[in-house]
Amino acid sequence: MSEHSDTVEEVFETVARTAPEIRSALPGRRAETAGKNPSGELRLAADDYADDLLEERLGAIEGVGQYASEETKESVDTGEGLAIAVDPLDGSSNLKPNNTMGTIVGIYNAPLPAAGHELVGATYVLYGPITTMAAAAEGEVTEYVVTDGEREAVREDLTLPEDPAVYGFGGRVPDWTEDFAAYVEEIESDESLRLRYGGSMIGDVNQVLTYGGIFAYPALESAPEGKLRLQFEGNPVGYIVETAGGRSSDGEGSILEVDPEDLHERVPVYVGSTDLIDRLEGALN
Ligand code: F6P
Repeated sequence: MSEHSDTVEEVFETVARTAPEIRSALPGRRAETAGKNPSGELRLAADDYADDLLEERLGAIEGVGQYASEETKESVDTGEGLAIAVDPLDGSSNLKPNNTMGTIVGIYNAPLPAAGHELVGATYVLYGPITTMAAAAEGEVTEYVVTDGEREAVREDLTLPEDPAVYGFGGRVPDWTEDFAAYVEEIESDESLRLRYGGSMIGDVNQVLTYGGIFAYPALESAPEGKLRLQFEGNPVGYIVETAGGRSSDGEGSILEVDPEDLHERVPVYVGSTDLIDRLEGALN
């Protein structure tokens, strides 16, 4: 138990309590709002609704001192304590075609922007056919089914399966670097691996956590820093996958070691089974 255990647990509980509300509000909020987020992407009414709910509830927890969201430029000061970075609705472009989406929460013991090694907990909710939640803290990952705002643990001390089975890579294929394209070719020639890419990082990462494998949103020719945000996406997911015995990488080393300069900065994201990430780093360097 660390000195932050109670706050981290309260954050997890609050996320579980809020997830069904976010989910049940989705059908009426498929329309786009006028605004864009700080990364230049269109915001949906559903993004805003989830953000407002999470800010109000997570910011009210004693022991939480800062709340930052992918949807807003600046963070909010909420008192003394841990800093929370949230992607309220990850993959929200999947709302229109009714595919999976997620909510991602990183809990940092340092003011934001902070390096991933400052995380003391991270969780994501997956809005799939059922609502599940993966939460990492104190060196363990637990998967829960969330019903009526309550969590029920279904997999404890979750680790990535030994034999990887799936892969999913984002970005337009012609925009991949030559080295990454060569690596993908190698992966695709492995008969034990199957393509799984759904356009929502949490849906795709949860496949990797379940079956073993690799998910990447790589550095692109047109965007060497990739697409995903370090504070809100790369770090929390990297922390969960590493806690489950896998690896994360920005192409050179663990994502958790990247020194951030800006709240909304992007990072190439490669996460999954250790051997596949080791091979990826070998191919890129
Ligand atoms: O927030 C970014 C995101 O929606 C991720 O959830 C997902 O992995 C990625 O963008 C999908 O991007 P693309 O549409 O380029 O495949």
